[in-house]
Amino acid sequence: ELGPYSHFMQKEIHEQPKALADTIEQVLEQGFSPALFGAEAASLLGKVEGVQILACGTSYYAASVARYWIEQIARLPCQVEIASEYRYRDAVALPNQLVVTISQSGETLDTMEALKHAQQLGHDLTLSICNVRESAIPRASRLVFYTRAGAEIGVASTKAFTTQLAALFTLAATLAKLRGHLSAEVEANYLDDLRKLPGSVQHALNLEPQVKAWAELFSTRQHALFLGRGVHYPIALEGALKLKEITYIHAEAYPAGELKHGPLALVDEQMPVVVIAPNDSLLEKVHSNMQEVRARGGELFVFADLDSHFGESDGLHVIRTPRHVGVLSPVVHTIPVQLLAYHTALARGTDVDKPRNLAKAVTVE
Ligand code: F6R
Repeated sequence: ELGPYSHFMQKEIHEQPKALADTIEQVLEQGFSPALFGAEAASLLGKVEGVQILACGTSYYAASVARYWIEQIARLPCQVEIASEYRYRDAVALPNQLVVTISQSGETLDTMEALKHAQQLGHDLTLSICNVRESAIPRASRLVFYTRAGAEIGVASTKAFTTQLAALFTLAATLAKLRGHLSAEVEANYLDDLRKLPGSVQHALNLEPQVKAWAELFSTRQHALFLGRGVHYPIALEGALKLKEITYIHAEAYPAGELKHGPLALVDEQMPVVVIAPNDSLLEKVHSNMQEVRARGGELFVFADLDSHFGESDGLHVIRTPRHVGVLSPVVHTIPVQLLAYHTALARGTDVDKPRNLAKAVTVE
């Protein structure tokens, strides 16, 4: 069942090109069509004036990426909230808000209860993004998009996350199109970006030996800091979550601009700092945040794009992911942080597929 792999997590990391190709297959055939989200979608999605996304854990980080896409591409206000918080909050239901729940398992109790809470508040436009067919959350939702990641067995979510991102990008572009914000040219470009995504992810997977070489050092540390900005900040959060879940190393993620408002005090020679630094409009800002870290002796481990110019120097290690892939860059930048957590766990000898205290589907509160 594991084939050439040592763990389900490693297998599932490597299945991502196929999981993504399977998930976007229907999108490439149909374009950004509401029919992808169910029979009722053409009439329901056309009414949407805002989006509220609810999820837990890694699925919540997928939501956090989607917020940038939904605002930027569909020009719709978008809020994201952790399901276990939303379900106990007296939120004000705005009219024509689409409530999106994201769940790999479709059985996470807090996400299910958050959906019911939203329905009680008066929301009736509900969409589930889910990997398990006919599970509880999609059954309770009017619209559904199934990711086609296949069964995810490792407790730490990997291929479910990147396929959720592909689904959410499709949602953003579909909403944009319905609202007249997507020209034929941009639609063709986005479809092309999606078509190339499995290949870019495969390139990132090929970096495994380089990432593994960093893992030895991480395995000897007690703490790690992850930095990102903009749409890549949630990828820093995801990298920190993967590391703490399977290696038990304390890891935190910050939007890099927050460094000097507190966490910089933590930085010394013992603190490895991982930076997600794609070649986008925020790179110059990230670069100056990196210098703040270096000036305090922090060792930097940077995931940059092939086409960004800064090189390695003392205390600055760089791995280059494929050429900047544009709007889908967060998907590609997820791969190296997954690999870093995986190889650090191997170096520490922890139980990668079944980390202590955790369960695959959290069906209790
Ligand atoms: C982290 C992880 C969890 C899940 C969370 C939600 O690697 O797997 O944080 O993402 O428990 O699970 P689903 O997506 O099944 O609702």
